[in-house]
Amino acid sequence: MNDAISRTEKYQKTRRAFVKTCLATATMVAANPTRLALAEPVRRYSRALLKDEKGNPLSSKFMVENEAFVFHYPYVTTPCFLLNLGYALEPGQVLETSADGMYTWQGGAGPAKSIVAFSAICAHKLSYPTRTLSFLNYRPEKIRFVGSDELEEERSQLIYCCSERSAYDPARGAEVIGGPANQPLAAVELEYDMEKDQYYALGTRGGELYDLFFEKFGFRLALDHKIDDVKARVEGQTTVYPHSTYSKHSVSC
Ligand code: FES
Repeated sequence: MNDAISRTEKYQKTRRAFVKTCLATATMVAANPTRLALAEPVRRYSRALLKDEKGNPLSSKFMVENEAFVFHYPYVTTPCFLLNLGYALEPGQVLETSADGMYTWQGGAGPAKSIVAFSAICAHKLSYPTRTLSFLNYRPEKIRFVGSDELEEERSQLIYCCSERSAYDPARGAEVIGGPANQPLAAVELEYDMEKDQYYALGTRGGELYDLFFEKFGFRLALDHKIDDVKARVEGQTTVYPHSTYSKHSVSC
C-alpha cells in the first residue's frame, strides 16, 4: 500500500467520488436528456484474459496500488493503462465524447472495485507510451497543472500528458480536467472473475481514436511491433507490463 495516500484520504476520495458522480450525472441528464438516450453501449471486442509476462493470468495481487501497467487492446498495437487506484470507484459517471454524445462509465473492477483501464492514447494529438518514450503517464504523486477553469491546481492520481499538458482523472472515467484534450480517454471495460481472481478486457466505452491513430502512426507501429497488420485484433489474451519497464523513459513535467 502506498503510504502517501492514507486510509482517511482514501475514504474521503471514495465518498467524494460517489457524491460527485451522483451530482454530475443528475446535472448532465437534466441538461441533455435526449443525448443520454442516444448514448452508446459498450463496444464489444474479443474477451481477452489479462496475463503477466510469464503467461500466467493476472491476479489482483499483481496490481500494486498506484503503479501503472500497460497492455494492448482491442488491437495488438493500441496501448491501454491498467491502474489500481486503491479505493472503490462507483459506476454511473456520465461522460461526453467530442463527436458521439454521452456515455456512462463502468467504474472500478476487482475485489475492491479499484481497478480501472483506459486507452493510453491522448485525446489531444494521440501521444502514447512507446518502448522508448512516454509523454503520457499515470502520476500518483501530487502535481501542479492548469485546470479546465484556467486556474492552477495540485492533484495526485492523474493521467497527465507532457506533450501539451492534458490532464485526465482516472477516478472519474478519465474525464479531462485540464489542457487541450476535448474528450476523456476511452474506457476499457473489464470483467473480474471473482472465483479465479482473473481479469478480462471486454470492450470499450467513449471516444475511440483508433482510426486516427493508425493513420498517424501506422508505419511506426508496424516497425515497433514487428508486424504487417497494425489493425490485427487482440484475440483471447493480452500481456500486461509494468509501465516502468515497458517504456524506457517516462517524461515527467
Ligand atoms: S498529445 Fe497529449 S496534450 Fe497534446
